[in-house]
Amino acid sequence: MFDFTPDPALPKAELYRELIAAAEALTADERDAVANMANLAALLKLCLAECNWTGFYRVIEGELVLGPFCGRPACIRIAWGQGVCGTAAASGESQLVPDVHAFSGHIACDGATRSELVVPVWRDGAVVALIDCDSERLARFDEDDREGLEAFAAAIAERI
Ligand code: SME
Repeated sequence: MFDFTPDPALPKAELYRELIAAAEALTADERDAVANMANLAALLKLCLAECNWTGFYRVIEGELVLGPFCGRPACIRIAWGQGVCGTAAASGESQLVPDVHAFSGHIACDGATRSELVVPVWRDGAVVALIDCDSERLARFDEDDREGLEAFAAAIAERI
């Protein structure tokens, strides 16, 4: 049984350290990318407070295709450079969006979402996927989340 529930009062740096250790343990013995992304999406949903959507978009033939996630059904394909996810893919940089309504071109999958953090997953010098975390709370994510989720993305890049 997977039994990992981090203390929500942990400082963020420590929370992400524990999350990364759990992600590494959870994926260590499995080489199927879909199975690993499914468990990692569930792990993020379980451990990151106030998130209504956590999951993956994969880079496939120049566009983004929905991967395993936890949350409401979402847009299946996103064009390169479109929305928050497409911008993260095209720029190769994380997108920390405190207010999605202020982000020109934001793609609303869940109307309740107010803030968003999207982090690219790099492998062999290319962006192969994105991790998207959404919240119904304005400015849910900060620089500590960005750093933590980038470290998470680097840790799981070979497992997905
Ligand atoms: N809001 C994202 C789309 C993905 S959903 O939030 C799950 C975007 O603008 O790219």
